[in-house]
Amino acid sequence: MRKPLSELVSYQSLHTHAHDIQGHTLRELFAQKPNRFDVFSHSIDSLLLDYSKNRVTEETIDKLLALFYECEVESWRDKMFAGELINTTEHRAVQHAALRDLNDATSAMAKNQLDVLQLMGAFVEQVRAGDFTDVVNIGIGGSHLGPMLVCDALSGFAETGLNVHFVANVDATEINRVLEKLNPASTLFIITSKSFTTQETLANADTAKNWLAADEQLKNTSAKHFVAVSANVEKAVAFGIPQECVFPMWDEIGGRYSLWSAVGLSIVLYVGMPAFKELLRGANAMDEHFKKAQPKENLPVLLALLEIWNQHFLQASVHAVLPYDARLQYLPAYLQQLVMESNGKYVDRAGNPLSVPSAPVVFGDVGTNAQHSFFQLLHQGTQTVSCDFIGVAKAGHENSAQHDMLIANMIGQTQALMLGQTLEEVHDDPQLAAHKMFPGNRVSNTLLLKDLTPFTLGMLLAMYEHKVFVQGIVLNINSFDQMGVELGKNLASNLLEKMQNTDFVSDQDSSTNALINFYKKHS
Ligand code: F6P
Repeated sequence: MRKPLSELVSYQSLHTHAHDIQGHTLRELFAQKPNRFDVFSHSIDSLLLDYSKNRVTEETIDKLLALFYECEVESWRDKMFAGELINTTEHRAVQHAALRDLNDATSAMAKNQLDVLQLMGAFVEQVRAGDFTDVVNIGIGGSHLGPMLVCDALSGFAETGLNVHFVANVDATEINRVLEKLNPASTLFIITSKSFTTQETLANADTAKNWLAADEQLKNTSAKHFVAVSANVEKAVAFGIPQECVFPMWDEIGGRYSLWSAVGLSIVLYVGMPAFKELLRGANAMDEHFKKAQPKENLPVLLALLEIWNQHFLQASVHAVLPYDARLQYLPAYLQQLVMESNGKYVDRAGNPLSVPSAPVVFGDVGTNAQHSFFQLLHQGTQTVSCDFIGVAKAGHENSAQHDMLIANMIGQTQALMLGQTLEEVHDDPQLAAHKMFPGNRVSNTLLLKDLTPFTLGMLLAMYEHKVFVQGIVLNINSFDQMGVELGKNLASNLLEKMQNTDFVSDQDSSTNALINFYKKHS
């Protein structure tokens, strides 16, 4: 059994080292080492990671690598790729990477995937040849965020002529807003739910069913407007979707890691099968990089270790995801689930309380909008926030002047966070100088993609998946369950029963009673 993280020799050595680093600013570190970028950056294919604006020296990186080795990350990584049961609480293997290894015909999961790709490929041709114009994916969490991100990011590659829409929230406002623009006769619904028990998804699926049934001409044929993606075929069939219209999913594919599976059906219907395969190939290229590159040149490993460093030793408990490209507008929401649902745990693999922080709080928004909302705190707030800036060199449009502005803003912000502005540099009324001063010394990574294509997007997302994996191993937690979300779901079901009558509620705590009674009175 592994010792608690805080008791590992390498972790303690990082603690001591952090004291030395506290005395040095990023300004000083850049001044001391003119080639700092060359030392603290790495690029692979079409992806450049600049991590020189972190408060690290070569000694820091060596010590972080010692932590990587002491935590035996490589052995856990190999277990994951070999299909061992590393999701120990659910006794499951973790096999999303096998879905993108299109050349591997040996593993059962790879074979499953080849069959599903064939099914999806045939289905997209059938839909294209038919009368459907619009596809609505109904799903939530992992059955929503990944496909929505990818479809939005790859709208420039849409080639099937179909429009896709996404509905997740149990708030019917969302589905109503989508449906009011659509024609029932030409709308296809994909009910995407691994469990097929998720309340939000089932409620929205019922609303869709009723919407179709309300159309006189479709009343008896509405079943033709539904397909499902699920690991629970029985439940999908009970909902009214014929078994042959249920695209399979498997226990070994976690919801938040599932866009590569049939959960990506909306992606296939939007960009076509060749582009979906490119997405898988890009992710596979990152899998190979993660498996083979030296830790010092391994992007997911570096990103994971840097975040542990910032969070555990430099008090950055919040991490901002800042895509400077509108095509990546849903990346922050996707990463929130990936990081916080995977690594927001309070016990280690053996069930012992963690002696160190778990996942950082992740938030973000697109630049430059974010600059005009929360960047003030990033620059001058008292909390430390680490940042990932993500940009794409090649614009997705012809307006190069605005793209130059966008990327200049991105790089300018990383510089401002690093340098800050001293009292002397402010040159102002002494009374205001303190307010205008920036402390600087704020850390960031910059990821620059040459272009945003299905391949590079696949690489980017797989890189973040593996980053989360490495962090989970260092923390010694199981990143692949999500037991904390169950309680809230169960309590909501209990309360729903109480809300469906006019009786005054008095058997809960005083806050819950009062909230329900207020709701009943005014709803
Ligand atoms: O919120 C919990 C969760 O189980 C997520 O992990 C998952 O992505 C989401 O709900 C949706 O689950 P399902 O695909 O089973 O509907």
